Amino acid sequence: MKNILSMSQLSNEEIFNLIHLAMDFKSGKIRSNNSDKFAMNLFFEDSTRTNTSFQVAEAKLGMKQIDFDARHSSVNKGESLYDTIKTVESMGVNLAVIRHKQDKFYEELLGKNLKIHLINAGDGTGQHPSQSLLDLMTIYERFGYFEGLKVGIIGDLKHSRVAHSDAEALTNLGAEVNFGGLKEWYSDEFKAIGPHMNVDELCQEMDIVMLLRVQHERLADNENKEFSKESYFKEFGIDMRRVEMMKADTMIMHPAPINRGVEIADDVVECNKSYIFKQMENGVYMRMAMIETLLGVKQFDNDPDQEREFVLR
Ligand code: CP
Repeated sequence: MKNILSMSQLSNEEIFNLIHLAMDFKSGKIRSNNSDKFAMNLFFEDSTRTNTSFQVAEAKLGMKQIDFDARHSSVNKGESLYDTIKTVESMGVNLAVIRHKQDKFYEELLGKNLKIHLINAGDGTGQHPSQSLLDLMTIYERFGYFEGLKVGIIGDLKHSRVAHSDAEALTNLGAEVNFGGLKEWYSDEFKAIGPHMNVDELCQEMDIVMLLRVQHERLADNENKEFSKESYFKEFGIDMRRVEMMKADTMIMHPAPINRGVEIADDVVECNKSYIFKQMENGVYMRMAMIETLLGVKQFDNDPDQEREFVLR
């Protein structure tokens, strides 16, 4: 595997390999030293978790990190993304982790003469594979399987790269994915996957309730003007009354950033059903697994059979 750009490119077997590798990093069963490799994180859109988590993962793998500040880069002088990536590759950077507001920004980089490894850290409203993989790891760590799990994704589906990535991956892994939130956000691609349900029903029936932030930066001006936090919270938000409707082992997840009092009540954020900070903890190990899979020492040192033994269960 050279790049990780979308959940659509990953088979279930590759997803399980990544989950097991991440769990082995987490338990300390394996370690890896990539001190001869250089990583650059190119974030053209704001981020706290993904950017920091990749930095921690790269540091734990011993990689050297090269600073890139999108606000002061030559992209602002009209340089293309391809020319930027080709430039840093020429200097010896081995891995580029890229977040971009443009959907499928990476298409510009494919089929070209690039040796550098690429990870999509979120493209517009498209895909967010590292978030999806850490979500899958957190679910697998809790339940040990995906087949038949009932998942309810509630919120701004239309603008969410997490909803697109998770709905697709969970369905392929055999989970039953359902949706909630404003009907306007339940677009055709979600209708093809699962039904829209009201939030009380989702809370009563789901094994996993996954909340999404309302992405005001992607809404039209009139949509933002008409939006009322109070009425959204009342109809779709998760408060303790709704937590009490859930089954004993239901997980509450959220990719964050969270908006307290909009999609989630203050006291739900760290309640005993919430896995929100566990997702962030697991994100470091999953990103280590992604990087190791692309350019880890074992990829180059061993023959393919040995590599498979190292990763597969
Ligand atoms: N979940 C997530 O992608 O968060 P950031 O935007 O802070 O990276």
